[in-house]
Amino acid sequence: MKKTAFITGASSGIGRATAVALAKSGFQLVITGRRAERLQELAQELAPTPVHILTFDVRDRAAVEAAVASLPTDFQAVDVLVNNAGNAHGLAPIQDGEPNDWDLMLDGNVKGLLYVSRALLPGMTQRKQGHIINIGSIAGLEAYANGNVYCASKAAVHALTKGMRIDLLPQHIKVAEVNPGAVETEFSEVRFKGDSERAAKVYQGYEPLRAEDVADVIHFMVTRPPHVNVAEVLLLPAAQGAATLINKE
Ligand SMILES: NC(=O)c1ccc[n+]([C@@H]2O[C@H](COP(=O)([O-])OP(=O)(O)OC[C@H]3O[C@@H](n4cnc5c(N)ncnc54)[C@H](OP(=O)(O)O)[C@@H]3O)[C@@H](O)[C@H]2O)c1
Repeated sequence: MKKTAFITGASSGIGRATAVALAKSGFQLVITGRRAERLQELAQELAPTPVHILTFDVRDRAAVEAAVASLPTDFQAVDVLVNNAGNAHGLAPIQDGEPNDWDLMLDGNVKGLLYVSRALLPGMTQRKQGHIINIGSIAGLEAYANGNVYCASKAAVHALTKGMRIDLLPQHIKVAEVNPGAVETEFSEVRFKGDSERAAKVYQGYEPLRAEDVADVIHFMVTRPPHVNVAEVLLLPAAQGAATLINKE
């Protein structure tokens, strides 16, 4: 029987690439996001891999619970959860920050990850088996100018990963984290609220990571033998030395 991977934020970027990589290596998938059309396109692209689509906003706890409760029997035993959904919203000094952006980041990146994990954990603990990969960021390991609340949300993911690993140890559930540096996805478009020119500049003058590079690492982590947990990975483009130190030509 195929293993099941549940990937949040599969409509774009790292989540989408992870879905492609895991489907290739024989997983069946639950793919989630808010943009149903994107998820349908992906499911078609992944055929004949069995794919179940769930459309919900990770910030909406009731919607998360209802979506997980609606999983068909064949997709209920989730082996791998990739908590990837998330974004940065805005880039401003704290005194100019938009409280609405703060809500989006803290509710999505932190509480969303908690809601999805909480909904799937009863099944994993019952089966005494599971593997959770949280997508953090270099921003969670070091704060950078104007990144304040995004950095805080990813620092929370970092702390939660460690806390979850400790709490879930007796349940035989592996918990791990991937902390990427700059990856060219829709991330900067979202951060700069659709300003494509400003978003494109983030990735100019050097070779950023591709979503597929991060997906490769996630694939490696989830295909290790049962006794191995690659607990934490910092994945950077070769041109990046620290959160905002990038060697641009
Ligand atoms: N790109 C980078 O440089 C970078 C670096 C480090 C870490 N990361 C992290 O990597 C993860 C994926 O980002 P990405 O770079 O792949 O960006 P992306 O292309 O913008 O993808 C973000 C994904 O998250 C989903 N999402 C966002 N908010 C959501 C919500 N409230 N409810 C449900 N789904 C939501 C989006 O789906 P819908 O819009 O369809 O809902 C989309 O599929 C994020 O956690 C991000 O913080 C990115």
